[in-house]
Amino acid sequence: TLSNMIKVAVVGGEGIGPEVTDQSHRILKWFSARRGIPVALREAQYGLIPYLATGKVLPDDTAEAMEEADAILWGATGGPETKEVPPAARKVGSLLSLRSKYDLYANLRPIVANPALADSASLKASVLKDVDFIIIRELTSGIYFGEPRGIETLPDGQRRGFNTQQYTTSQIRRVARTAFELARTRKGRVCSVDKANVLETSVLWREEVTALHQAEFSDIELTHLYVDNAAMQIVRAPSQFDVMVTCNIFGDILSDCAAMASGSLGMLPSVSLGPPDRLGRRKALYEPVHGSAPDIAGKGIANPLGSILSVAMMLRLTLNRPDDATLLEKAVDTALAGGARTADIAEPGAKRLSTQEMGDAVLNALDKVA
Ligand code: NAI
Ligand code: MG
Repeated sequence: TLSNMIKVAVVGGEGIGPEVTDQSHRILKWFSARRGIPVALREAQYGLIPYLATGKVLPDDTAEAMEEADAILWGATGGPETKEVPPAARKVGSLLSLRSKYDLYANLRPIVANPALADSASLKASVLKDVDFIIIRELTSGIYFGEPRGIETLPDGQRRGFNTQQYTTSQIRRVARTAFELARTRKGRVCSVDKANVLETSVLWREEVTALHQAEFSDIELTHLYVDNAAMQIVRAPSQFDVMVTCNIFGDILSDCAAMASGSLGMLPSVSLGPPDRLGRRKALYEPVHGSAPDIAGKGIANPLGSILSVAMMLRLTLNRPDDATLLEKAVDTALAGGARTADIAEPGAKRLSTQEMGDAVLNALDKVA
């Protein structure tokens, strides 16, 4: 019955969002039909198109689909479409406001270096060997949300901009808990990144992470790095990491830096998780790390693998099907090993697949193994 179904809202959004999400949607349907995964998929619109029809970027139907969903498969928003919607109408139902509304505080960004892409990556193959780690970025607090903030004029006529970094113990502990729990399902190591030699928020961060570790997660290996050293280590020897946990701004910067180990922004999946309910279920928004890519939107050439690998994360974390998650990751590996390349990961002269053809390549690989 419908009540046993796990509800997934599929929201492609704008730019290349709908193009890549069409492919991950096909993949989800494949798992539903072929592997008996009980998902109820509900497609909904977001952005300029519904704004023109209803006056809202997040129309009521989409808001309802997202509200009732256990998981949201999100595409992207932004680009030239943004200018056609007045800022006030953009703000209501913006992605940032949705993250805040659902308290999606733990943003997980896995970084895997696929050997098939070693030649198109920015780092050399020996550095990329065995790279498989995950950055957990705190997403609902820190300097991006801190008050007071503003730009003021001083008595001497200069202007001064200011922002405030704040973290409470519970905000630190809940994201650290996510990191420790995840490490238990992986290689058992957590590296916490801060700037405790300079910042009070980081001193508290380190104390709280350490206290939680001692109280509940002493089976996990915990290390601490200062953020400047962490940035260097990610480029020098990324294979040393398993789970890295850090605050909002450090996570933002480090994850873009780490992205280069994967070959292309188009390869990267993510999930943002909310607080667990009584049964341990967490509202989750799955999305590729990239944005709406206005420079290639509408051409059908975007890489859908970031969105498709977000479905693998959904299989593992929301749908509780780790074997199926691995199956999908293997299918992506098979497609890449067989030479399937969208333009962003193709070497000069190589055949370039369309977005849809890359989706086909993954589905073909799934058909062969299942
Ligand atoms: P972007 O991620 O959209 O694009 C950066 C570069 O990477 C572009 O050259 C683009 O063509 C390329 N690229 C991105 N995804 C790709 C894919 N799947 N396949 C092949 N190439 C790909 O970032 P940009 O250009 O800074 O932002 C464009 C818009 O997207 C902005 O309005 C921004 O605010 C928005 N954005 C939205 C996000 C979201 O919806 N979660 C996240 C990041 C940006
Ligand atoms: Mg960023």
